[in-house]
Amino acid sequence: MKKRKCLIAGNWKMHKTPQESVNEALKLVSMLDEKDFEKYDIMIAPPFTSLSLVSESIKNKNIALGAQNIYFEAQGAYTGEISAQMVKACGCTHVILGHSERRQIFNETDDFINMKISSAISAGLIPVLCIGETKSERNSNKTLNVLDKQVQNGLKAISVSTGNELVIAYEPVWAIGTGETASPEQVEEAHFNIRKLIEKIYNKNVADNIKILYGGSVKSGNAKELLSLENVDGALVGGASLRAEDFTGIIKA
Ligand code: 13P
Repeated sequence: MKKRKCLIAGNWKMHKTPQESVNEALKLVSMLDEKDFEKYDIMIAPPFTSLSLVSESIKNKNIALGAQNIYFEAQGAYTGEISAQMVKACGCTHVILGHSERRQIFNETDDFINMKISSAISAGLIPVLCIGETKSERNSNKTLNVLDKQVQNGLKAISVSTGNELVIAYEPVWAIGTGETASPEQVEEAHFNIRKLIEKIYNKNVADNIKILYGGSVKSGNAKELLSLENVDGALVGGASLRAEDFTGIIKA
């Protein structure tokens, strides 16, 4: 029996209109039952434009709502940006930060992500800090160094007391949307090292409590094996979270 309750989180990325999001969320609600919620915490992260409506449709349903990004300022002249306070007011409890798509396509740095983590926690949101190595970093044996640096820099001066204020998601860049999943050995090695580092930065209690999710081509066929690993406390799912049938397939696996 695992010490930590698993979190199965769906990152919808830039998919679905508000109406499509509501339809999918309602379908998800109808397909989940008490047993699923006893075993798992469940979170979905639709695009910003769907948050308010989806929040209404999952009210009192035990499904947490996450945003996919925020800017670190609370308000101001930042055309096109959205703050932690704003997504919180839309019903969010979580926010995905530092996703490799943000790092690679939008040039987000560890320092920038660190400011957003700080802002999210101050606003009472739970950040899901995403980290992961590229294929070439893995091939040159830099994986653990890259992950250490992303965790250390991402959490610089972030104070954490229980470990429940924060979630970490290990998502190898080469496994995202490729159908190629990291092997159980690769995943467990990464998660074990991340937890050790969290113990070093904070303490054993924080390290024992913090959820470390795996992401990268998770689907119903590989979820069971990945989720049974000792240091894996859930999954961050992209493609397979877009249809309630696939997402619940993972949960029920
Ligand atoms: P896929 O599940 O589509 O590989 O995406 C993973 C991901 O990026 C979740 O944040």
